[in-house]
Amino acid sequence: MRLFPVRLSSIPKMLDFYSQFNPSPLSIKQFIDFGQNACEKKSFIFLRKELPVRLANIMKEIALLPDNLLNTCSVSQVSSWYMKSFEEVLEYEKAEPTHDNLQSFCSALEHIRNRHSDVVQTMAQGVIEMKETENGNVDSSMETSIQYFLDRLYMSRISIRMLINQHTLLFGESMERQGRHVGCLDPACNISDVVKDAYENARFLCDQYYLVSPALEIEEHNSMDGETLPIRTVYVPSHLYHMLFELFKNSMRAVVEHHDQDKCETLPPLKVLIVRGKEDICVKISDQGGGIPRSQTDQLFKYMYSTAPQPSKSDLHTVPLAGYGYGLPISRLYARYFHGDIVLLSCEGYGTDAIIYLKALSDEANELLPIFNKTSSKFYRATVPTGDWSNQNSDMNTRQMNASGPKRINGAL
Ligand SMILES: Nc1ncnc2c1ncn2[C@@H]1O[C@H](COP(=O)(O)OP(=O)(O)OP(=O)(O)O)[C@@H](O)[C@H]1O
Ligand SMILES: [Mg+2]
Repeated sequence: MRLFPVRLSSIPKMLDFYSQFNPSPLSIKQFIDFGQNACEKKSFIFLRKELPVRLANIMKEIALLPDNLLNTCSVSQVSSWYMKSFEEVLEYEKAEPTHDNLQSFCSALEHIRNRHSDVVQTMAQGVIEMKETENGNVDSSMETSIQYFLDRLYMSRISIRMLINQHTLLFGESMERQGRHVGCLDPACNISDVVKDAYENARFLCDQYYLVSPALEIEEHNSMDGETLPIRTVYVPSHLYHMLFELFKNSMRAVVEHHDQDKCETLPPLKVLIVRGKEDICVKISDQGGGIPRSQTDQLFKYMYSTAPQPSKSDLHTVPLAGYGYGLPISRLYARYFHGDIVLLSCEGYGTDAIIYLKALSDEANELLPIFNKTSSKFYRATVPTGDWSNQNSDMNTRQMNASGPKRINGAL
C-alpha cells in the first residue's frame, strides 16, 4: 500500500487550493444510478477530490468566525477535527486505486464519520461558551452571522455524511445490502411507514414525560393519474424520519400542554396528510396545540430558540422531548438539502400546521450546498445593521432581507 502523508506545513496551501473549487451537487437520481452500477474505483476517484473540496469550503468559513467564537474550547475542537479529516483524505490524493488502498480509504472514511459525530452538540456548546464570556452581550448582527454560519456548517456536514455513507454502505466491510436499498437511499420509500415509525418513537417519549399522548390519523392522496397508494418516493428514509420525529415531538408537546389533563379533556389527534403532486410531495402534520403567536414565527428556525426548559447537563444521554431549540432548524436543513422545505403555519389559540415539502422527481432533488466565495465571506464582517423601516425589527429592513438568504429574497420579490 502506498499512501502519501501530507506535510502539516502544506495544509494551508492545500486549503487555499481546494477551496477555490465549487462543490459538485448530486441529485438523488445520480446517487441511485451510480449506486445501482456501483464501481468502487470511480467512487474513490470522485470522493478524493470532492471531499477535500467540501471540507475546504466550510473550513474557510470556520476561519472567518469572530475570534471570541473561534477561540472557545469547543469551536477550536471542531476546527481541529476538520483539519485532521482534511489531512487524512489528502493522503489519498495521488494513491493508486489498488485493492488495499480502496479498503483503507473505506476505513478512513468511517473514522472521519465517527470523529465528526458530535459536531452539532460541540458547536452549540461553543456558542454557549461565547455568550457566557460576553455576558450575554451578543448584538443582532453577530446573531445573524452565527445563524448564517451554523446553517452552512450543518448543511455541509449533512452532505459530507451522505457521501461517506453512500461509499461505505456500498463498498465497506459490512456491505449490508438490504433488499431494495441503494446505500442509504430507498428507491421505493413508503412515506406513511416512516410517518408511523417516527410517530411511535415520539409517542414513546411523550408518554414517558407526560403519561399521555395524542393519537395519529393518516390520510393519503395521490393526485397522479394511475398511481396507487401508499405513496412511495425515492428518498433517504433516515432524513425523512429525522424531520418527522422532530415535528411530532413539537406537536405532541404543544397538544399535551395546551389541554388541561386535570379536566380529563381528550387530546385531539395529530392529523397527517400525505399528498403526491406533479412537482412536490407534501407531508402536513396538523395539531391542535394552541398554535404560535405570529410575533414568534421569525424565531422558530433560529438555533437555540426554545420555549421548553433547558434539559440539565446530567440528562445529556437521555433524549428529551424538547429543549435545545435545534429541532426545527436542523430538520429544515434536511428538507432543503434535496431542494425541499419545511414551513410552519399557525393559528394562535388553535393549532399549527407543519408542512414538509419534498421534490417528487429524483432528478430535481439536487443537493443544496454552501459555496465559499466573496459573497459568503462578507456575512462575517459584522456591521451594526441600520433599519430602513420605522420598526427596526421589521422583516422589511433591507439588510435583514439580504441576510436571510435567497429564500427570503425570492419571497420578497
Ligand atoms: N407544533 C407546535 N406548536 C406550538 N409551538 C411549537 C410547535 N412547534 C414548535 N413550536 C415552538 O417552537 C420552538 C422551537 O422548536 P424546536 O423544535 O426548534 O426546539 P425545541 O422543541 O424547543 O427543542 P428541541 O431542540 O429539543 O427540538 C418550541 O420550543 C416551541 O415553542
Ligand atoms: Mg423540538
